[in-house]
Amino acid sequence: MTPLLSVRDLKVHFPIRKGFFRGEIRNVKAVDGVTFDIAPGESLALVGESGCGKSTLGAAVLGMQVPTSGTISFAGEAVRHGESATRTRLSRDIQTVFQDPVAALNPKMSVGDSIAEPLAIHGVGDAKSRAERVAELLRLVGLHPQHAERRPNAFSGGQRQRIVIARALALQPKLLILDEPVSALDVSIRSQILNLLLDLQKRFGLSYLFISHDLSVVRHFADRVAVMYLGKLVETGPTDTVFARPVHPYTEALLSAVPLPDPVLQRTRKRIVLTGDLPSPANPPKGCAFVTRCPLAVDICRLDPPPLVQVGKAQQAACHLRAAAPAQEGLSA
Ligand SMILES: Nc1ncnc2c1ncn2[C@@H]1O[C@H](COP(=O)(O)OP(=O)(O)OP(=O)(O)O)[C@@H](O)[C@H]1O
Ligand SMILES: [Mg+2]
Repeated sequence: MTPLLSVRDLKVHFPIRKGFFRGEIRNVKAVDGVTFDIAPGESLALVGESGCGKSTLGAAVLGMQVPTSGTISFAGEAVRHGESATRTRLSRDIQTVFQDPVAALNPKMSVGDSIAEPLAIHGVGDAKSRAERVAELLRLVGLHPQHAERRPNAFSGGQRQRIVIARALALQPKLLILDEPVSALDVSIRSQILNLLLDLQKRFGLSYLFISHDLSVVRHFADRVAVMYLGKLVETGPTDTVFARPVHPYTEALLSAVPLPDPVLQRTRKRIVLTGDLPSPANPPKGCAFVTRCPLAVDICRLDPPPLVQVGKAQQAACHLRAAAPAQEGLSA
């Protein structure tokens, strides 16, 4: 099956000026050679610490951030950044839901006008049919059609995120980029919003790129997971497999902090605490990006970046010690 989204060796580097008189130009390697696919109807969670490049990757997929190199294709067609035809198509087929629903909604516009805005921009329907669609969308996200008249400040955080989701669905997109969609919400309502998203996904066959640093949320939400570290993917695979048998030491450390549902297992679980700071993406380590914090690191890890290789039926990892590729074995011999 043709993937809905296909990303190949994507790099997004930001030039920054540093040093005396700011004469030295360095590149922040926010995304540094990322490859993955998302199938129609599939959800892929992108996880990793703050600053590892998740949002930059999302912005590139959305066509908002021009990549330094690499390719993105959507529904079999190459995404050419900067082309207005591409922007128009992507702006229908890919929608986003960000962390902060307050910032996402114009406080001066009625909720109905906000939800109808994408329809108006794309010239879909007339005022009457748009009002009907707004009522339908409000019902779909668990709100009342009468709510269309109100301003965003009349709603709670969770309700506002429902409104943002309604607006994201207005144009019947194929892919939603969900960038920490519940992180700003009260813990008690997070699962309601996540369940709504899961429900909508099933109903409309949506694909999700779900960006999160909260692995306990990812476990219940995503079909597959991609673990990102300093601009690179270090492990990918079906969520169940990666949670049960993480291969990369970084994935293992992240997962060791996630509480287990079984209290007996939880008591015996050992937490792996990573020491040292995340290196700067402007000056990443020469070999494996994780080498400065890896408890297993040996010489080869300081010299060569490990490639992402197959470690199971659908699982891949990038680690010299735990995921040796045949070519790499030759190198290290
Ligand atoms: N426009 C920019 N110019 C320079 N550097 C940037 C720019 N945008 C992002 N960066 C840098 O790129 C790196 C990745 O940032 P990004 O926002 O993608 O991380 P993130 O994984 O989404 O983090 P968080 O979990 O905190 O949202 C960071 O070091 C960030 O400072
Ligand atoms: Mg981010």
